Amino acid sequence: MRILHTVEEVIQWRTQGLRNIRSKGTIGFVPTMGCLHPGHASLISQSVRENTYTVVSIFVNPSQFAPTEDLDSYPRTLPDDIKLLESLNVDVLFAPTMHVMYPQGIPLDVEKQRGPFVSVLGLSEKLEGKTRPNFFRGVATVVTKLFNIVMADVAYFGQKDIQQFIVLQCMVEELFVNTKLQMMPIVRNSKGLALSSRNKYLCPDSLKISENLYRGLQAAESAIKNLAPGARLSRSEIIDTVTEIWATYIDSHDFKVDYVSLADFKTFNELSGVEKTSKQQPLVISCAVYVTDREKPDTVVRLIDNIVI
Ligand code: PAF
Repeated sequence: MRILHTVEEVIQWRTQGLRNIRSKGTIGFVPTMGCLHPGHASLISQSVRENTYTVVSIFVNPSQFAPTEDLDSYPRTLPDDIKLLESLNVDVLFAPTMHVMYPQGIPLDVEKQRGPFVSVLGLSEKLEGKTRPNFFRGVATVVTKLFNIVMADVAYFGQKDIQQFIVLQCMVEELFVNTKLQMMPIVRNSKGLALSSRNKYLCPDSLKISENLYRGLQAAESAIKNLAPGARLSRSEIIDTVTEIWATYIDSHDFKVDYVSLADFKTFNELSGVEKTSKQQPLVISCAVYVTDREKPDTVVRLIDNIVI
């Protein structure tokens, strides 16, 4: 596996002298912030299966972190990541420096930022965007930069960050970016907890408790799937089904709910309820919950999850 740090090195690899590598096959791309886990491995394996070459990037992108968030403590595990990428037969790891990605620097205070930024207005302000107002601007900006450098045919993203996928899909379509996006299913542990680099912050007890996130969403999923023809469930009935499963943990302050959403899959517009009809549009039940660690109560981790129905 080649480990490249500059844009020039990637262009040189991609053009291999003068011939474009794309004329010899396809490039699959998996952008990551490192601290790789089996969720990333599933994206990478899919890319390796479907493409001639696979490029993975590792870059902890400051512009998607608010000044109050965990940029400094975000887990960085490069030596282990490299071992995993080699075992998965990745062709190129692109690990750029901050200066490569943000030549004018990247202060976390948005007012002080300089240079080009990409905003996907409309989708970015909802759900995750309410709590993290500049998050999708940071993601869309860094992904645009990475796409322009790697020039992949296909890029792979996980369903866990479903709103990120929808925002990036809109960006790719409306900025006419020549890279297709593919969404891969959420990888969960044996008890249903969605794998995430941030799970590393939690002690075993709190991780066990966090498994209830998915149980809550599953309860809503079964309520919707078991609706009799013509019957209807209101939005609050569906959301109550989720929070009832979490009640013990909300009462014990293990969970503080940021949001539970019932939304249309394409637009992320909130729905007022669900009716059992033959023309049911795909919908997403998603949530963000602050989990307070039982061993270190100062550690509060915001976990997200979702189910597409
Ligand atoms: O999903 C992630 O890990 C990040 O948001 C991404 C897409 C690598 C951009 O920094």
